[in-house]
Amino acid sequence: MIPALRGTRDILPGEVEKWQYVERTARALCERYGYVEIRTPVLEREELFAKGTGEATDIVQKEMYAFTDKGGERITLRPEATPSLVRAYVEHNLEQSMASAKLYLMGPMFRYERPQKGRYRQFHQLDVEVFGLSDPAIDAEVIDLAWTLVETLAIPSAELVINSVGCSECRPQFQKALLAALGEDLPKLCEDCQRRATINPLRIYDCKVEADQPIIDRLPHAVDYLCEACQAHFGGVKRQLDAWEIPWRISHRLVRGLDYYTRTTFEVLGQTLGAQNALLGGGRYDRLVEHLGGPDRPGIGFAAGMERLVLALPESVAGDRVQAFVVGIGDDGRAEALRLLRELRRAGVSAQMEFETKSLRGQMKRADRLRARQTLIVGGDELARGEVTVRNMENGEQRPVKRAEVVADVRHSALGIRHSETTTGDV
Ligand code: HAM
Repeated sequence: MIPALRGTRDILPGEVEKWQYVERTARALCERYGYVEIRTPVLEREELFAKGTGEATDIVQKEMYAFTDKGGERITLRPEATPSLVRAYVEHNLEQSMASAKLYLMGPMFRYERPQKGRYRQFHQLDVEVFGLSDPAIDAEVIDLAWTLVETLAIPSAELVINSVGCSECRPQFQKALLAALGEDLPKLCEDCQRRATINPLRIYDCKVEADQPIIDRLPHAVDYLCEACQAHFGGVKRQLDAWEIPWRISHRLVRGLDYYTRTTFEVLGQTLGAQNALLGGGRYDRLVEHLGGPDRPGIGFAAGMERLVLALPESVAGDRVQAFVVGIGDDGRAEALRLLRELRRAGVSAQMEFETKSLRGQMKRADRLRARQTLIVGGDELARGEVTVRNMENGEQRPVKRAEVVADVRHSALGIRHSETTTGDV
């Protein structure tokens, strides 16, 4: 046996239904908010992320699946989607061809991290990005979409945290204050923090080393150093979130592990995930499009970890059930049952039949295992009367239905069930 690679996983039947539910919900919501899907390659040039995600980030320094291909080019499996979407936006001049550049993507990302619950080497993101809009209301819209996704999935005790990391005007002041406050404590911090202090001091807030925490807790807060424009922007975001009654709290440590952020940053934290508690994270990146060779256009977005959303789902999500199980008794009954099976499927009903076992008992057992909603029985008596016996598997009630009417009958009750389910939970 050749096992799967460490940090990668198979998503098996039984779990895949949860994935389909999360994907369906995410897709429906994105489209309701006016975002359109984009699909970009998993393979990109290494320099896209070195430049986009940032040379100083852990992702680029330690976690990229980068290699030289047979043509001698430096290639990487994408560790995140934001630089890819910026590249596509610039490369195809989407600004001209799209009414508004509001995009989403779903797919696998790759980071060579230490695997643990909620952290994998191949994982999947829903990535949402908006280009060209700078009003605080669009920040609030993106946060609303993220929050509504978590709410619609009924993920319990989620929490929205926000912060502002300022812009190129005010950030230098904050960094100076940060380094001054660190002062003599700097040599007491871990090796990673020493490195961060010289490359990008904001990253010190990402530190998880226990002994460093008391020092980091005493450091100044980015929001106290914002320039007027950044202050006004952050005020606008908070006001709009309040107007929409979306609950938030400020986390001063939320500077995020990527270099491109300006102004708004945010995360939604789940309570059931242990150490890897960020269900999703994102923020504004007003310089990135230009930095990657495009026009001077702002951007904002977020990415949700699909594995983490699936892990945090409440227990009760199950896949669709088989609507009709067809049972044939005797050779003629079986021939008629096979005809009926195909008619049902062509009418849009999910229908199954047992091909191997001939006994009535064996067939009914199979219907139970599949949790079929109804069983349609065709035996000698039914054939003689031109009927099918329809058994409701939930309450055991049986009724005869005319053969000519049975497809419409089953289809009608299947639609009825689907309708009553979608009006309660589904999107
Ligand atoms: P990120 O915080 O690196 O941001 O990742 C976003 C989400 O992806 C995390 O909150 C987490 O749920 C999930 N995630 C990250 N790494 C792993 C992993 N190794 N295993 C499982 N899940 C993981 C970004 O990727 C930015 N591109 C987000 C963004 C979009 N900012 C602006 N636009």
